[in-house]
Amino acid sequence: MKKVLLSGIKPTGDMHLGNYFGAIKQFIDMQDSYESYIFIADLHALTTVRDREELRKNIFTIAATYMACGLDPKKVTLFQQSAIGGELCELTWMFNCLTTVPYLERAVAYKDAIANGKEATVGLFDYPILMASDILMQNPDVVPVGSDQKQHIEYARDTAEKFNRIWSEQFKMPEPLILESTGIVPGIDGRKMSKSYGNTIPLFASDAEIEKAVMSIVTDSSGDIPTNVYAIHKLFKSEAELAPLYETNKGKYKASKDALANDIKAFVAPMRARYIELCANPSLVEDVLSAGAKVVKVRAEQKMVAVRKSVGLL
Ligand code: ADP
Ligand code: TRP
Repeated sequence: MKKVLLSGIKPTGDMHLGNYFGAIKQFIDMQDSYESYIFIADLHALTTVRDREELRKNIFTIAATYMACGLDPKKVTLFQQSAIGGELCELTWMFNCLTTVPYLERAVAYKDAIANGKEATVGLFDYPILMASDILMQNPDVVPVGSDQKQHIEYARDTAEKFNRIWSEQFKMPEPLILESTGIVPGIDGRKMSKSYGNTIPLFASDAEIEKAVMSIVTDSSGDIPTNVYAIHKLFKSEAELAPLYETNKGKYKASKDALANDIKAFVAPMRARYIELCANPSLVEDVLSAGAKVVKVRAEQKMVAVRKSVGLL
């Protein structure tokens, strides 16, 4: 029996190198050894995306990105979160009845969003509990994510523990899986690469766009090696491979950036070609999502029967 893996990404825009190295690559590396459930967190996206067409486009983009990067639908169940929206919301309600307001007020992502002027909706506040439901619904052993999601997994663990203690043992303790080397992929300004900072290198950009993004990586003139360039380059080549290159290019930042741009372009080219092909044949993606929906619907329905019995609804 393989161990179970679950993870998801919010469809809030185009994917970047941080998403690939921090999240998607791990899903691909683990798809042979785990029974994997990978989803598009479209219900979570409703906390920020308010435009119908944009959401439709983003959902497709994430699904096509998963497949273009190498997730194999024969090995992995790929699905849209809202395919089991009813069950997830029911479980979220049960968890909400166990969760205190002060405990949720400690969520770093929520505090950051409010500090950045976002509207304090109930959905934004309850985000971690919907995420706990995503996770616990599938009883995964591991949840691979970037380090920014660590606290959310702790929320899921705490919620599982409390439910199991108060009612009956329904949920397994999920373990976060965070790779040290790619837990935080830096962006072109050296801060964490993130859509919200506008410092990304998009995964499926054109060659010209990749070159432009790489040329705008912030460098300072204090050392021989441009730290921000090197930090991103390390994702593509080993330190041993990079050593002679950076030795030769000491102080010549433009040459190092050219080398990085070439490495990124070579790396993304085959994935980008598959992505373009999937965009031209959307039914290839839609069929995979429909098949995935059927699989998770059955699992969620079964799980909810046990959970309803546990709390006394059945
Ligand atoms: P963004 O910060 O650009 O909005 P998301 O929050 O949508 O990205 O992240 C989707 C997934 O990619 C999550 O698992 C997250 O942890 C991972 N991720 C995003 N940015 C990075 C990064 N710079 N380094 C490592 N992982 C990242
Ligand atoms: N919160 C995650 C993010 O912003 C997306 C997500 C929703 C998720 N539910 C999840 C990730 C369950 C892992 C497991 O990227």
